[in-house]
Amino acid sequence: MEAQLVHQHKSITPPKGVEVWDIDPYDEAILTNPIPFFAELRAKGGLAYIPRYEILISGRYEETREIFYDHARFLSSRGVGMADFKLEAPWRPPSIVLEVDPPEHTHNRRVIMRALSPSVVRKLEQDFVEDAQRLVDEVLAQGEIEAVAAIAEAFPTRVFPRAVGIKQPDARKLVDYGAMVFNAIGPDNPLRQRIMAKAPDIVPWINEQCDRAQLTEDGIGATIYAATDTGEIGEAEAGMLIRSLLSAGVDTTVSGIGSALWCLAQYPEQFQQLRADPAKRAGPAFEEALRFCTPVQAFFRTAADTTTVGGVEIEEGTKILCVLGAANRDAQKFANPDEFMIDRDTRGHLALGVGVHSCVGQIIARAEGRAILQALAERVSSIEFAGDPVWRPNNSMRALDTLPLKLR
Ligand code: HEM
Repeated sequence: MEAQLVHQHKSITPPKGVEVWDIDPYDEAILTNPIPFFAELRAKGGLAYIPRYEILISGRYEETREIFYDHARFLSSRGVGMADFKLEAPWRPPSIVLEVDPPEHTHNRRVIMRALSPSVVRKLEQDFVEDAQRLVDEVLAQGEIEAVAAIAEAFPTRVFPRAVGIKQPDARKLVDYGAMVFNAIGPDNPLRQRIMAKAPDIVPWINEQCDRAQLTEDGIGATIYAATDTGEIGEAEAGMLIRSLLSAGVDTTVSGIGSALWCLAQYPEQFQQLRADPAKRAGPAFEEALRFCTPVQAFFRTAADTTTVGGVEIEEGTKILCVLGAANRDAQKFANPDEFMIDRDTRGHLALGVGVHSCVGQIIARAEGRAILQALAERVSSIEFAGDPVWRPNNSMRALDTLPLKLR
């Protein structure tokens, strides 16, 4: 059985009717400039087969949504990365929300949803708005900034750990932990190995922050621990749910906000459109940036049994790389998909997932994005590049490394 294991998952034969595509989706040139790759992927059909990893890959909207939505046919419990947890030990204990299936998923997700409900976020929103206004005033005083550090990383690492109840946040460790989690989705390549080398420094610190004693008594973390008092979950599970928030709640919003800034600098007329009505348009502008840049570019699913998608027979154990970034630019779903238009109908985009695993932190993510874009649009008359933006390669996250901007 072990001889059949390739790239931490089961070896499969290419299904009939799919193109064999000799490409490495984890090539750093593709990760930092994925748009031509997305177009080629969609042109291959609903699915293609990548021999070097023995995986299927989907990038058209219809098939990607079908696979992502159907949690019964396409499992998360066998890992949302390339490794099949049924066959290979995962690098850390699997998430008890992202990497489990119903009914276990339903039970745990209920606890986390309560802690991130609209009423909880409404209370946090005032803090987000005030912090965003302060931050934009600070950066405006500097004129030229490196916006990844000054805004995209600064804002979520200020407001989010505070909302969770982390007493002594370490922004660098939080961002690096996210980089670890999202690089781990891919193969064991140099990108993954480089960031994993930091694990001994970061993982114990993250685990420590998830302890009840380390958290304030009025944050999201405390609400999750309250579920242990009624016996709904155990202490260990509560800690694991908080770890999920720290895994998924920092780099994603850093990427979303960084991408939104990049979009507004790249499309100045769209920024002017946003400035015409910041309160109303900040939300739609952030949503369009999520569609356009898609922070989490791709996640895997594993076929639970033999099944078919778009007429292609898929064998049990097949790993399928669902490229959300490509699906979000499918012209069959979004007209002129390569145009950034803040007034477009973005409904149905897959940047926050779909189905039972859809982003449980989406209300908070949107509140953060809205707060920062509204504060910018109310205070800044123009956003221009002050140098070339540089994208940071990551096995599943589309994120900027540096973004020099001139704000007026
Ligand atoms: C713009 C920011 C964000 C993006 C683009 C994003 C994206 C996603 C996506 C695509 C999924 C689906 C994963 C899957 O189906 O396998 C997801 C799930 C999840 N997200 Fe987010 N996310 C963001 C912000 C956040 C925040 C702020 C939090 C925490 C407060 C969070 C916590 C989670 C958790 C715990 C899950 C797993 C949900 C489940 O499996 O039921 N995310 N996110």
